[in-house]
Amino acid sequence: RDPPSAMGEQEVVREELGNLHGIPLYKSFIEGWPKVEAFQARPDDLLISTYPKSGTTWLSEILDMIYHDGDVEKCRRDAIFNRVPFLEMKVPGIPSGVELLEKTPSPRLVKTHLPVQLLPTSFWDKDCKIIYVARNPKDVVISYYYFYQMAKMHPDPGTLGEFLDTFMAGKVAYGSWYEHVQGWWKKKKEKKLLYLFYEDMKKDPRQEVQKIMQFLGKELAEETVGRILHHTSFQEMKKNPAANYETLPTALMDHSLSPFLRKGVSGDWKNHFTVAQNECFDQHYWEHMAGSDLHFQMEV
Ligand code: A3P
Repeated sequence: RDPPSAMGEQEVVREELGNLHGIPLYKSFIEGWPKVEAFQARPDDLLISTYPKSGTTWLSEILDMIYHDGDVEKCRRDAIFNRVPFLEMKVPGIPSGVELLEKTPSPRLVKTHLPVQLLPTSFWDKDCKIIYVARNPKDVVISYYYFYQMAKMHPDPGTLGEFLDTFMAGKVAYGSWYEHVQGWWKKKKEKKLLYLFYEDMKKDPRQEVQKIMQFLGKELAEETVGRILHHTSFQEMKKNPAANYETLPTALMDHSLSPFLRKGVSGDWKNHFTVAQNECFDQHYWEHMAGSDLHFQMEV
């Protein structure tokens, strides 16, 4: 274990997850829940909603760039987790997501991983715009497996085989991927919600950025869009300390175990799943996605 630190991260290291209204979640986040539930959204807040490891940071950087008209220097003003506060985040010793948001001037970008049924009602009351990004579950589970290892607020993930079982059973942080992606997909029918896919962003980032701009009613010159695409490419973000999470204390994230910006591709699961694991995962996938008109590309 790490030595105790002044920031008090020690308490959240490798703890078992708690349970928030049926969803497995970090105990320190659950302690902060009353303030999250009572959160007051503003009508011009833009909510970035994702299941973990689906491209949240990538979309966040794209949005901050769009909000700042492609000004790279402005987007280096602070770390991504301060520029786009994480709504339900609460870790001892650092300002919570709600505290950061209260100090953030409008228009705010807000990040959440909450399943749709737990989103604070204020976002619906204020009719805030929402962008959801989903990623195929095979790449999500691999990305999550490495994230469990490097981000020490997670319990020990065990072997990959064990982690696949935990993921399929919905016992990882934020619960069932299947329920998360489908819950938000259904909301799209009634709310101002743009539903994007990581795989589409990989295939044609320009087209997806244009979709985002259209959704926001924002116009930017071709050249500015080009600059946004360059600045938010995997290679650029990986070396950008304002985007790659390296400024967080090692006690929270240890990049020597696995970097936060790890591979940034679609289909990396093929380097990890055994044939048997893949068959089992496919079977489970079809059982849980049966009848849904939501479809995923497992590679691009
Ligand atoms: P991998 O672990 O597969 O590399 P989140 O931000 O939701 O936690 O998602 C993290 C995943 O998004 C990681 O996936 C990370 O590498 C990937 N990612 C981050 N920035 C990216 C970018 N600019 N392009 C492609 N993938 C990116």
